[in-house]
Amino acid sequence: MAVELNTKTKLAGLIGHPVGHSVSPYLQNTLADKYDINMAYLAFDVASDGDIYNVINGAKSLGAIGFNVTVPYKKSVMPFLAGIDETAKKIGAVNTMKLKSDGYHGYNTDMPGFCRALDYAGITVSGKNVVLIGAGGAANAVLCGLLEKKTETILILNRTVEKADALAERFRDSYKDTKIYTAKLDGSCIPVMDKISSDKWTAIQCTSVGMSPEIDKAPIEENAFYERLDAAFDIIFNPRETLFLKKAREHGAATANGLGMLLFQGIRSFEIWNDINVDDGIAAEMLAGMDQAMD
Ligand code: ATR
Repeated sequence: MAVELNTKTKLAGLIGHPVGHSVSPYLQNTLADKYDINMAYLAFDVASDGDIYNVINGAKSLGAIGFNVTVPYKKSVMPFLAGIDETAKKIGAVNTMKLKSDGYHGYNTDMPGFCRALDYAGITVSGKNVVLIGAGGAANAVLCGLLEKKTETILILNRTVEKADALAERFRDSYKDTKIYTAKLDGSCIPVMDKISSDKWTAIQCTSVGMSPEIDKAPIEENAFYERLDAAFDIIFNPRETLFLKKAREHGAATANGLGMLLFQGIRSFEIWNDINVDDGIAAEMLAGMDQAMD
């Protein structure tokens, strides 16, 4: 790391449990290096929810400029923040905190990170049909991004359909221009898709199915599903090409994995802390570095 630590070094970090495999320290310290910002970013493994109050107040006293927040604390930090931005409120989760004069303010950069990753991959969703697979935390931020991008129709598919219904319900009132449907995640969703639209669909995969080491699994097996796609995005990045993406590609769809989303959520946090814009050239260099590091 080229940043020389001294009395002016600003502290940032990650709060989560576990944090041992996080790429955020690599990502943030590389960005600090590229932009010549005197910031050091460390991973803090916080043992339990009961520690969050002390962590936030101690960090505030130390003047740490900001934190990323990961599983399992994206909700539990919220009561201790001085403010929460609208996007994080809608999603109901904070993954970034920034120190201001009255304390830490909360943001969600998964949503803008997803949107920029889609743009970067050249996948357009505005005015289109999107099938969103999954209804957990990641799907929540992705749904918000799709709605902000003015997707015409969204069909949320989930193994537990009640969770898809609850997710749709959270957002329906705030985004009346998009039609949101829900269905069970299995072959029975295909006639549902055909009934809604005969146009092609973009699929966004937000479950953990197909993640290493379970690389021979896909959230939906039927070829008929993949025939209906012209683009597919998987939030998983390990393996680089999940079975879901492979099937989509073999049926002629454009594909992108989750490495871009991982990068761009981190970039957005870095931008918030340092009040700068990270350009696509730097992002491309970073993405190539992260991709290489996976070998
Ligand atoms: P995350 O924060 O990563 O989204 P999560 O909130 O636990 O994690 O959500 C996991 C998602 O993956 C859910 O949509 C879950 O489906 P259920 O709501 O039915 O549990 C989905 N998921 C996990 N394992 C799955 C499997 N074997 N088959 C289908 N869906 C699965």
